[in-house]
Amino acid sequence: MPYEFLAVEIADRIATVTVNRPDKLNALNARVLEELDLVFTAFDTDRSVGAVIVTGAGRAFVAGADIAEIAANDAGGLERLSAVGQAIFTKIETLSKPVIAAVNGFALGGGCELAIACHVRVASEHAKFGLPEVKLGLIPGYGGTQRLPRLIGKARALRMILTGEQVDANEAHRIGLVDEVATATTLHEVARSIALQMTKNGPVAVARAIEAVNDGFDRLPAEAMALEARLFGSLGATKDMAEGTAAFLAKRPAQFTGE
Ligand code: COA
Repeated sequence: MPYEFLAVEIADRIATVTVNRPDKLNALNARVLEELDLVFTAFDTDRSVGAVIVTGAGRAFVAGADIAEIAANDAGGLERLSAVGQAIFTKIETLSKPVIAAVNGFALGGGCELAIACHVRVASEHAKFGLPEVKLGLIPGYGGTQRLPRLIGKARALRMILTGEQVDANEAHRIGLVDEVATATTLHEVARSIALQMTKNGPVAVARAIEAVNDGFDRLPAEAMALEARLFGSLGATKDMAEGTAAFLAKRPAQFTGE
């Protein structure tokens, strides 16, 4: 499918989505958001895709929502825009396949929110993270005020949100905002090797694991445990579970079919 602002490649069951609007540092205008929605909707059911890497073209990952579009909105328009952005990033967070952010440069505002909606974050040593919305008289509106405290803790998140300061890749790693720092040259290889490790596993189990972590996260412990038991049990009816356990016992590699 042709996209105006995304480049999409699929190789070895790994889809790479590159936000490709480098003259505006890949800022998320309405069209980019719409295309992200389309591509992730397609990935969810595409059996040729086992994992997704998201990155940016040029010197930015994504430098935020498009400020020119934001400025043209009134209160109602901003609330609708926030709901649209939130829904797309939640689609990414709840995708049935792992999503890895390969953060190659600025991940600011909506770019930082996109990265933290992904399941894993790898950053190049030149990457910069920040939620600078307060500098514009705004607050993060694509899930940042909710996901960042859950990821790095309330106090550190509030510091980032209230100062609008940028943190570099090493600091982002120290505070748990990124999982690994790579060089600009190795970034994509590191992201790919994480994705490859994940695509070797049982696809149904990977999907249920994402569901268990996401759905259980904000529940009371007893409810979350019940959810885990239900999802764990559901895997007993899959060919993948039969194959994975049989392969282990026969000391051979598993051949998962995702059924
Ligand atoms: N929305 C719209 N356009 C953006 C943008 C955004 N979030 N971020 C960058 N751009 C555009 C700039 O307007 C500029 O366009 P122009 O060449 O037509 O003037 C182009 O991208 C390059 O950006 P520029 O500011 O010249 O690069 P820089 O290296 O001097 O600064 C940043 C880089 C990331 C520090 C700076 O662009 C910035 O602060 N961007 C906004 C970040 C932000 O507040 N994001 C949250 C939005 S809610």
